Amino acid sequence: MVSRVIPVDPFDLVIFGGTGDLARRKILPGLFRRFRAGTMPEESRIIGSARSEHDDAEYRQIVRDAIGEFGGDEKEDKAGIDAFVERLHYVRVDAKGDDGWKELAGMMRDGIIRAFYFSVGPSLFGDIAERLNRFDVADDKSRIVVEKPFGRDLQSAKELNATLRSHFREDQIYRIDHYLGKETVQNLMAIRFGNVLFEPLWNNHYIDHIQITVAETVGVGGRGAYYDKSGAMRDMVQNHLMQLLCLIAMEAPSQFDADAVRDEKLKVIRALQPVDYHHLVRGQYDAEGDQPSYREDAEDPRSFTESFIALRCHIANWRWAGVPFYLRTGKKLKARSSEIAVVFQDLGHSIFEGDEKRHRNILAIRLQPNEGIDLQVTIKEPGPGGMRLIDVPLDMTFADALGPEAEDVPDAYERLIMDVFRGNQTLFMRGDEVEAAWAWTDPIIAGWEARGDVPKLYEPGTAGPDDSAMLLHRDNRRWRDIKA
Ligand SMILES: NC(=O)c1ccc[n+]([C@@H]2O[C@H](COP(=O)([O-])OP(=O)(O)OC[C@H]3O[C@@H](n4cnc5c(N)ncnc54)[C@H](OP(=O)(O)O)[C@@H]3O)[C@@H](O)[C@H]2O)c1
Repeated sequence: MVSRVIPVDPFDLVIFGGTGDLARRKILPGLFRRFRAGTMPEESRIIGSARSEHDDAEYRQIVRDAIGEFGGDEKEDKAGIDAFVERLHYVRVDAKGDDGWKELAGMMRDGIIRAFYFSVGPSLFGDIAERLNRFDVADDKSRIVVEKPFGRDLQSAKELNATLRSHFREDQIYRIDHYLGKETVQNLMAIRFGNVLFEPLWNNHYIDHIQITVAETVGVGGRGAYYDKSGAMRDMVQNHLMQLLCLIAMEAPSQFDADAVRDEKLKVIRALQPVDYHHLVRGQYDAEGDQPSYREDAEDPRSFTESFIALRCHIANWRWAGVPFYLRTGKKLKARSSEIAVVFQDLGHSIFEGDEKRHRNILAIRLQPNEGIDLQVTIKEPGPGGMRLIDVPLDMTFADALGPEAEDVPDAYERLIMDVFRGNQTLFMRGDEVEAAWAWTDPIIAGWEARGDVPKLYEPGTAGPDDSAMLLHRDNRRWRDIKA
């Protein structure tokens, strides 16, 4: 198979916060990989910007170091790095002051796409958006890219959206949720809407329940005080898990374009029912050996913030009536693993004597590691001795199925940044989606705050608090094992 490289039009990308962690860890190494793949046209430039004083040469060295630290095999391509950093420039700009903005405006070129990546804290979004216009850095075709968090509740999300919209149109605003850039997540739509097999079964007549798990092995150490202001609900469920839920549950859009897809996702969020507090489990990881507990990492011995959450929710529409969606995410769990599992109903009656097990087809979509999809099917156990049935996975690991081409698949950030230059907003969140997600999240958080719920302790390296297992046991179901 031949890898298809589709170059984008020439662009100037300004990265505000171009010296920060996100820029060095994800954005710049990702751009280098796209440069090597030939997606970045000759005339394109990347302009790093922050308050600290650097000239172009110093900034190029910062980016070389970042690729060396965070890049993959491509960091050995010294000639490629030399060519890439030639495209880099640096302008010192203070988001809260007027220094540097005229110089930045002077660097902009007519007829070239202008994109501005806000890789800074959200408190600076308004200042940057306002100055981009006041100093004529942006034009009416410019795009801005903003990172989570999009607020910490409905009110702040509305304010943030209003601030951005007072300077840019919605079709210029690209809100990144990197989960949407994952190859498997897009494949989920291809599987659903590109095959005749699944869509007829995709409803409450055939699906028993759906599980979405995003498990991490790391704790919050290092950024504990920052994390403690949000917690798993705000940091993961409101955005990433919600987006996955939408893609699994939405109706088929009339076509695969940005507004058609986002309209369908919005309908799902609006149909989400409030979560009963009996269907909600929050946890905090305990200390283990010389490893600190969550509260020690968060530097607050009385913190009530959750590092783990599991919940059961329902979507009130005809397709999903009665089908529970179980969501869980947490830190310091037994493996780093993210998956969506669609668990189909059992047969109800077995014609095979002695076969008492409940066989179920399960479609499991693995987001990380080892992106791929497998379908659990029931077959006859090979060999003599009658009809004994076993469940086996039909595995479609992309790396195996697609061979070397799978290695060229851009990672989530690379793909999404290129979509900005292509002007394709399909995999970005619209403002109303973000607000609807907060409108569902806020009362859940307000509920546990009013009740004064204390998160349950869980041992690091497990699947979270025991109550999380109970959440499904009570429904005569069980979580899938968390395994790498
Ligand atoms: N790191 C991640 O993996 C990650 C993941 C998802 C989302 N995010 C979000 O992405 C944003 C950036 O995160 P980060 O981790 O990269 O933060 P960071 O490491 O603290 O970097 C912040 C950047 O902003 C610049 N900056 C700060 N104040 C400024 C000002 N007044 N004017 C101009 N530049 C200023 C800093 O450089 P100077 O100090 O030199 O100005 C630095 O380059 C945050 O909103 C974060 O929540 C980060």
